[in-house]
Amino acid sequence: MWPLLCKNSVGIVIVSLTHKKILLGVTGGIAAYKAAELCRLLVKGGAEVRVAMTDAAQRFVAPLTFQALSGKPVLASLWDSASGDGMEHIHLSRDADLILVAPASADFLARLAQGRADDLLSTLCLARTCGLAVAPAMNREMWAAAPTQRNLEQLRADGVSVLGPAAGEQACGETGLGRMLEPAEILAALPMCAGGLAGKRILITAGPTFEPIDPVRGLTNLSSGKMGYAIAQAAAEAGAAVCLVSGPTCLATPAGVRRIDVRSAADMRGAVLAELPSDAFIAVAAVADYRVDHAATQKIKKSGGMTLHLVPNPDILAEVAALPDAPFCVGFAAETERLAEHAESKRLKKKLPLLVGNLAQDTLGQDTAELVLFDDRGRHPLPRADKLTQARRLIDHLADLLH
Ligand code: C5P
Repeated sequence: MWPLLCKNSVGIVIVSLTHKKILLGVTGGIAAYKAAELCRLLVKGGAEVRVAMTDAAQRFVAPLTFQALSGKPVLASLWDSASGDGMEHIHLSRDADLILVAPASADFLARLAQGRADDLLSTLCLARTCGLAVAPAMNREMWAAAPTQRNLEQLRADGVSVLGPAAGEQACGETGLGRMLEPAEILAALPMCAGGLAGKRILITAGPTFEPIDPVRGLTNLSSGKMGYAIAQAAAEAGAAVCLVSGPTCLATPAGVRRIDVRSAADMRGAVLAELPSDAFIAVAAVADYRVDHAATQKIKKSGGMTLHLVPNPDILAEVAALPDAPFCVGFAAETERLAEHAESKRLKKKLPLLVGNLAQDTLGQDTAELVLFDDRGRHPLPRADKLTQARRLIDHLADLLH
């Protein structure tokens, strides 16, 4: 099978979908005609494609078009089961590596966000164990409407990948945001949606915390945030819905990542607990171990000396790992010596399935890192590489452990 060259916002991507089983859902909108081209490209890329159409989609394009392009009968009704046991909605969704709904109408997104199962396609989506990507297509006012945006927020939080829409001239004659992405652009985004963390929610902390002494002074740790941001990027690339709780940094938010800015360890703890449940929690932040008991509300005047009364900060990672329904917890240990010994004891103490160890002097503020992963299977060294490469290796390892 030849690779397809597809262009997306970051350039040309080579897409090979050999052996991927993709369930293409088509809902009712004029962009349904473009789904025929998408189906053709998926098949050309090597995917095995089954097409499920809603009733409204069949008013725009005949099922026969998709049958000819996919080489398989189109799934059109919840009620005409081919499997013999009436469980077609379960079998079909279990069999897929990815469900891709393109175009996804405003109505379908609303039904998906509510978890409705009132036709074959919505039922397949609800019964799935694989990733789900949607390519919205609708009039610009429908796209901008508050209920649609609320539904999208819910879908993103549920781990659904939202591809597009694009801006431009619309079938209704108006111009704005709401056009379905071009089939080649959707195809270019697919490796991400079918990645190892598709459908997973990943919560990450990054950067330092800042503990105020008074309005102009504070205690903090050395941390650029680069590793945590790289991990957030790698997790989003692998298809996860990523929430990044970040202490003060100068870094740009990676594409597709939802970021919550915090300052102190207490703020970070509050944001993390509010974002649970999640499938995995990766604590990369260099949280200050102590804070000043009562920060002064006015600047403390210099008077020859200053005495600070410090109290310990909550250990966010240990607290999350001890929850009854704890996510898969990943900790970081930056040590200055005896890395393996300190890392293993930290992993046991905080009851972590996975801990990433590094020597602080080799990593802090740098663009490269040398890491060692510690888990129940032993030690896995990740030889020095740039932080994004290390982040992708870590995410691959995590995806393996999660599965
Ligand atoms: O015990 P230590 O601070 O070395 O543990 C480091 C790990 O614990 C890191 O993953 C860090 O993000 C997390 N941590 C935390 N809350 C703290 C201290 C550390 O989540 N107060």
